[in-house]
Amino acid sequence: MPAPAAPKGMRDIIGDAFYKYQGFFEKAAEIASYYGFTPIETPILERKEIFEKTIGGGTDIVEKEMYTLRTKGGDILALRPEGTAAIMRAYVEHGMNALPQPVMLYYYGPFFRHERPQRGRFREFFQFGIESLGTKQSIADALTIRVSQIILEECGIKNLCVLINSIGEKDSRAGYVKDLTAYYRKRIDDLGPEDRERLKTNPLRILDSKDPKTKEVNKGAPESIQYLNESCKEHFREVLEYLEEMGVPYRIENSLVRGLDYYTRTVFEIISDTPSSPRDASVSPEKKEGDAPDAAPAEQANAQADPGAEPLALAGGGRYDNLAKIIGSRRDIPAVGASLGVDRIVSLPEYSAPPPRMLKSPKVYFIQIGTGAKLKSLNVIETLRKARIPVLQALNKNKLSAQLGIAEKLNIPYVLIFGQKEAIEGTVIVRDMSNHSQDTMPLTKLAEYLKGRK
Ligand code: HAM
Repeated sequence: MPAPAAPKGMRDIIGDAFYKYQGFFEKAAEIASYYGFTPIETPILERKEIFEKTIGGGTDIVEKEMYTLRTKGGDILALRPEGTAAIMRAYVEHGMNALPQPVMLYYYGPFFRHERPQRGRFREFFQFGIESLGTKQSIADALTIRVSQIILEECGIKNLCVLINSIGEKDSRAGYVKDLTAYYRKRIDDLGPEDRERLKTNPLRILDSKDPKTKEVNKGAPESIQYLNESCKEHFREVLEYLEEMGVPYRIENSLVRGLDYYTRTVFEIISDTPSSPRDASVSPEKKEGDAPDAAPAEQANAQADPGAEPLALAGGGRYDNLAKIIGSRRDIPAVGASLGVDRIVSLPEYSAPPPRMLKSPKVYFIQIGTGAKLKSLNVIETLRKARIPVLQALNKNKLSAQLGIAEKLNIPYVLIFGQKEAIEGTVIVRDMSNHSQDTMPLTKLAEYLKGRK
């Protein structure tokens, strides 16, 4: 049996790291609520076809990255690689079209993709997402981008830039994909090997290829915005106008098509161009993901980033007006949304969202000495909890002097000393660590006494 280790690309999130995630969630949920979003939680497992049909056959997520399983009843389920398709499934399943539109939802939780782990890229990762369903309006696209940007700003993230593009609708995209395919066919010998394959399955994906040979070819590729019909052009112009009005810095990125097939019109990503931002690791062809065993020890996430590479996106999203029909709705439901990559955000040195609200710094260090005192000590802690006085306690039998030393080191203002004598008398010694003075208090008055002190 090998030494115990979490599966490759997955991690335990412990102590302070956990509080960072929780603090992020509280901040993001608060901002989303002010903008009118309400919470939803969908299952971690969905029927596989929900993702297969919507994300698209030729995409990396569906072809290589989905964790799937067959249940004892014979259903094929997938661990969710993203949230949008499931949110739309929930909207249709619960007839949310009967509610006032748009329905604005936020969600948070773990997602799973069998990717090659590196800094900022995990196989289990956390997203916070916002989705507005049942609206065509360009203001919804702008609101999605603005809320994502505000969340990042309020977490202390600097040098944010929105990369944005419009990939049009089905009809305009067909013409674009045709011309793009023709362009690549003429230059097929200059494409990287993986991209030659993509030409057959999903030519749009060649546009965001990391292969240096393909990148050269991409410089002359046709641009999607040249193919937009009048209404898509108008929509895109309006979105940009909103961004300008709100002072959101953006850059039109013609090669941005995103790794999911369900998008229509607006697509965007948000990056932070600080030097500490995680960047794409150089993928050497002989060291592709999936080669290493999944239960490998914790050597994961150490792949070398290419310092010249574009920073990895902290958030991504776009409009998905046709997704509903793909999953079986009788009519189209226009919608737009975004997800923020929480692991990437909380790992930035400048991340500074406040700690979770439930986290209180302890006011009291509680030392119990002897069995009689231990026996009664949990009742004392419960009395303090009810009075909302946070306690740190020593369950171990360390010496009094050692325990006082710990309280001092942790800067806890009061120490409670509860020995056999106090347990019998129903009292406790309260030591003020600022001046080392001591008072003996009846237990019945303890909470009140502590509350009256700083
Ligand atoms: P996505 O671009 O695939 O979009 O993911 C959104 C964000 O999740 C990324 O920008 C990144 O920060 C984070 N992320 C993705 N994969 C990983 C990974 N392996 N490890 C760590 N972080 C990761 C979506 O998932 C869409 N559902 C977004 C959306 C919402 N579109 C419309 N509504």
